Amino acid sequence: MKLYNSLLEGNKKWVQNQLEHDPEYFKKLSEGQSPQFLWIGCSDSRVPANEITNTRPGDIFVHRNIANMVVHSDMNLLSVLDYAVNILEVKHVIVCGHYGCGGVKAAMDNQQYGLVDNWLRFIKDVYRMHSTELDAIKNEEQRFDRFVELNVIEQVLDLTKTTIIQNAWRKRNSPKVHGWVYSLKTGLIKDLGVNFDNTLKLPPIYRVENNVGEHKRVEAEEA
Ligand code: CO
Repeated sequence: MKLYNSLLEGNKKWVQNQLEHDPEYFKKLSEGQSPQFLWIGCSDSRVPANEITNTRPGDIFVHRNIANMVVHSDMNLLSVLDYAVNILEVKHVIVCGHYGCGGVKAAMDNQQYGLVDNWLRFIKDVYRMHSTELDAIKNEEQRFDRFVELNVIEQVLDLTKTTIIQNAWRKRNSPKVHGWVYSLKTGLIKDLGVNFDNTLKLPPIYRVENNVGEHKRVEAEEA
């Protein structure tokens, strides 16, 4: 129980600290949120969005799962993304992976880990897409690092393939999507330089136009 209670005691100390700095802190926060960022990160306990970006509660809307995946049939991810993009109207969506990611590492080998193997399959697909580049890297740690980066890049691209992001771009030229990798060894974030706010670089097959409902409405109006 001691371990468990330490969290609740920690909470009390944290509240005290916040109130010492600003007696109105919780009153203000309770009035609403308007974060400018959506963070899609790994569940790994060592990569907490706020701490590593020196931000505060209220600054970042967060979704985390094993290996920071953007799976377009994941209702959890899609709900968070839709809410962040269309209701909160965030300006940036950031996929942040991290070197040393256990999920990515597990996807590189052929062991069974249980249910999670089904999740890791999405990461194995990334390996297959980039197997020529990855197989050519003989140093295993370097290959692992690059796999982490390529996985982030693919998740950023997967974001840009969603109707949620493409419709928002059409409506308001926002949000920008980005890919980052965090280093557990240095604490520093590397910006991979994959930034998108339009579909120009996307293979045409993934570009969506106005939805069928809109076409029908326009045709009806024209008739
Ligand atoms: Co991870």
